[in-house]
Amino acid sequence: MMRTTEKILVIGSSGQLGTELVQNLRNVYGIENVIASDVKITEQSKEGPFEVIDVLNATGLLEIVKRHKINQVYLLAALLSATAEKMPKFAWDLNMNGLLNVLDLAKEKIIEKIYWPSSIAVFGPNTPKENTPQFTVMEPSTVYGISKQAGERWCEYYFNKYNVDVRSLRYPGLIGWKSAPGGGTTDYAVHIFHEALKSGTYECFLSENATLPMMYMPDAIKATIGIMQADADKIKIRSSYNLAGFSFSPKEIAAEITKHIPNFKITYKEDSRQQIADSWPKSIDAAEAVSDWGWKPEFDLTAMTSDMIKNLRAPKK
Ligand code: SER
Repeated sequence: MMRTTEKILVIGSSGQLGTELVQNLRNVYGIENVIASDVKITEQSKEGPFEVIDVLNATGLLEIVKRHKINQVYLLAALLSATAEKMPKFAWDLNMNGLLNVLDLAKEKIIEKIYWPSSIAVFGPNTPKENTPQFTVMEPSTVYGISKQAGERWCEYYFNKYNVDVRSLRYPGLIGWKSAPGGGTTDYAVHIFHEALKSGTYECFLSENATLPMMYMPDAIKATIGIMQADADKIKIRSSYNLAGFSFSPKEIAAEITKHIPNFKITYKEDSRQQIADSWPKSIDAAEAVSDWGWKPEFDLTAMTSDMIKNLRAPKK
């Protein structure tokens, strides 16, 4: 464990990413130096310091930040793509004003550093779909994408105008075995493993050829902690960095799962999430993340699939 003076607050810590990020941050910085927080109390509160925080309540947030002498915030609280389509105004309010509340803490010099996730959802139907570059047409057509795109602009603005040290990654779909996703279009790539192991079948809500960029959770955690630990002068992009793992379609991941579970059968029944998937890139060019702060993923589809199945099959402790 690193000796540290960091005091970290993770907001939205009980979600898919937060659950794993908190565990990893605690390994690096120590349990007591990482405060988990979510809008309601969860099982995570048994593992270390935990606060109930509504990020829209700026006064409550400030009180907790001061009480714990927080100097870094990871803001993960947000509605994801599919849920945001059902609650557009609330998604905008949470995703945007939550971010502004945290950016203001850094503007006022109460905290020093912010991590905020963006997404491949910032791209839209007019963006080049293959090897999508860092700088390109961005006309997101989902509420989630609009909020992430606007959020990126705010991050860059606060950096330029107020010297706020905010860092961000455009995550692809995240796949992990420790925690459940919720409300995303890429979530099928997690559910498929659970169903394959439980029933040997999976009904996919995307079409068989809906290729999307994805990443295995250990790589996402490595990228997140990596960008936060990089020297500030290496972080040349203050909106958000393209980040790439690997890409696959439902048909391709099903074929990979079949290598481990030979009788596995996938069927397809598209719903409204297919339209969201159609608007997103198929693969991402992460050249800037590679050259600026040394991004390098470890897992591909084959390695991720083996690791997911091995871990989901292992007896629960
Ligand atoms: N995984 C997210 C979603 O599907 C994309 O950022 O909403």
